[in-house]
Amino acid sequence: MNIAIDGPAGAGKSTVAQKVAAQLGYVYIDTGAMYRALAWAALEADLDLADESAVADLLRENRIYLRRNGGSQQVFWNEQDITGLIRTPAVSNAASIVASHGQVRAQMLNLQRQLAAEGNVVMDGRDIGTHVLPDADVKIFLTASITERAKRRLTELTQKGHSATLAELEAEIEARDKRDSEREVAPLRQADDAILVDTTGHSIEEVVEQLLDICKKSGD
Ligand code: DC
Repeated sequence: MNIAIDGPAGAGKSTVAQKVAAQLGYVYIDTGAMYRALAWAALEADLDLADESAVADLLRENRIYLRRNGGSQQVFWNEQDITGLIRTPAVSNAASIVASHGQVRAQMLNLQRQLAAEGNVVMDGRDIGTHVLPDADVKIFLTASITERAKRRLTELTQKGHSATLAELEAEIEARDKRDSEREVAPLRQADDAILVDTTGHSIEEVVEQLLDICKKSGD
């Protein structure tokens, strides 16, 4: 069984997807981390993020690798572990820009389908139910209010020692949602057969339970 979880920035997808995967004994694949890895490398190389072929070449000539480490996931750019470097606001913004390029998305689609080929994966992103795994057995569209999403990001960043204000994060999330939803190639969109889950006001545990329930019902 394959499970696709899509939704806007900060809806809690990765936290929830990781826990659902652990409960089911499935492999968790965070596709946002793949776009973030590429964005980080493009920033390191001082590339013009708008230069589609330069960014696509960078991806073609290097390797992104996701490794399971206990309950969480490590992200490698070639041999370098960049897990701790890809969650900054600068990388978030750059990831959304590199993800708007068709040549980048085409390569990512191939990589992601290869990762899911063995089945029993929980994959999260923006276009999993619509493009990457259109035949996924369960499709969830996870969302929450902008303020709630910004608050969660603030807590996450503060815990990691970064500083930001709620207003900054709301603006950043809104800009990213707009870019992700309005791009031409594989925009953020709820698949017709996806189940909408609004996590506003719900704890992680409640949402995980709800998703496990949906998976169970679809397996029955
Ligand atoms: O889920 P995230 O915030 O880590 O994703 C970072 C960016 O990557 C997001 O703004 C849009 C892009 N992305 C995408 O376009 N398609 C995906 N499947 C996953 C992420």
